[in-house]
Amino acid sequence: MRAGTTEQDGRIALIQSDIWIGFPRAEQVLDRLQGMIEAPRQTRMPGLLVHGTSGIGKTMIARNLSRKYAPEYDPASGITRTPLLLLQAPPAPDERRFYLHILAAVGAPATALSARAQNVASLEVRVIALLRDLGLRMIMIDEVHNLLAGTHREQRRFLNVLRYLSNELEVSLVCLGVSEAVDAIRGDIQLARRLDEHHLPNWRDDAEFSDMIQTLIAAMPLEKKSNLKVKSLKQILALTGGVTSRIFALIKDLSIDAIVTGDECITDDAIAKWTPVWSRHANAHRRLEKSGCEAAPAPEDCRASARRVVVRLVVSAGCRQLL
Ligand SMILES: Nc1ncnc2c1ncn2[C@@H]1O[C@H](COP(=O)(O)OP(=O)(O)O)[C@@H](O)[C@H]1O
Ligand SMILES: [Mg+2]
Repeated sequence: MRAGTTEQDGRIALIQSDIWIGFPRAEQVLDRLQGMIEAPRQTRMPGLLVHGTSGIGKTMIARNLSRKYAPEYDPASGITRTPLLLLQAPPAPDERRFYLHILAAVGAPATALSARAQNVASLEVRVIALLRDLGLRMIMIDEVHNLLAGTHREQRRFLNVLRYLSNELEVSLVCLGVSEAVDAIRGDIQLARRLDEHHLPNWRDDAEFSDMIQTLIAAMPLEKKSNLKVKSLKQILALTGGVTSRIFALIKDLSIDAIVTGDECITDDAIAKWTPVWSRHANAHRRLEKSGCEAAPAPEDCRASARRVVVRLVVSAGCRQLL
């Protein structure tokens, strides 16, 4: 094992950062969204519902687009143009909270407003007036599945608000969430008509997956080329269930190992030996349960024994992540 150097540390820090990696499937969604944001304004702006399992890469796409269309100050007019507003759906479909959240997002928090000005109708007027001045082209709502936490009636009211905002402001509406939200959104027929669907399925054993792995490995700052066999690609799928976040975690973990050991590439052997972090934690959890620590809250002595079990596991499995 080589001694750590600043150069190595720098590469490891780069791997650990959440920098954007533009694999074709993600770029496709970005292109589609970019086409929408650049399209001429019309009364019924097209919208999109991007859905897929948690960890598939939806938020990364939304953040990437919002960086590309960050607010820009125009010195000629003295106006700051905000083409894209990226918001998270509130934890439950609450209109008032959503409006307050929008105000905070555009730097106009409602804290100074009177209680009366904070009722839903007044907030709505204020939000529309403020957003109209921003030159908005698109509103993106991430974690739109949060609306499932509400009753049917609350869900309908919240979807109504989304439709109203997009109509009033003549902006594209983009919703991102897990696929379970699709049915709820389809419940609002008018909104469903406006939103095209873009599904991001879990990765499967096909050319698209192998392209993505190649792009991902090529983005890792390793000195040598990694030539993986087809068997290893299948193994990656089996270990990760085809979820992007897990695939990235695996490749990043092995890349860091490759830097630390000096191998400088990802090998078939390393993949064969790799244990998912999530299953290591699951194993540790099972061992903790067996040691009699199920009951919460854990008393001090139980926590100490939990720590011992974890330490034993770390030593026996030699797994860096638990340390
Ligand atoms: N295009 C990408 N570039 C870099 N990392 C990505 C990309 N897409 C997904 N990831 C990785 O997967 C993780 C989960 O992605 P995220 O967008 O939060 O998923 P979702 O919003 O669908 O739950 C990210 O934190 C990142 O590590
Ligand atoms: Mg997300």
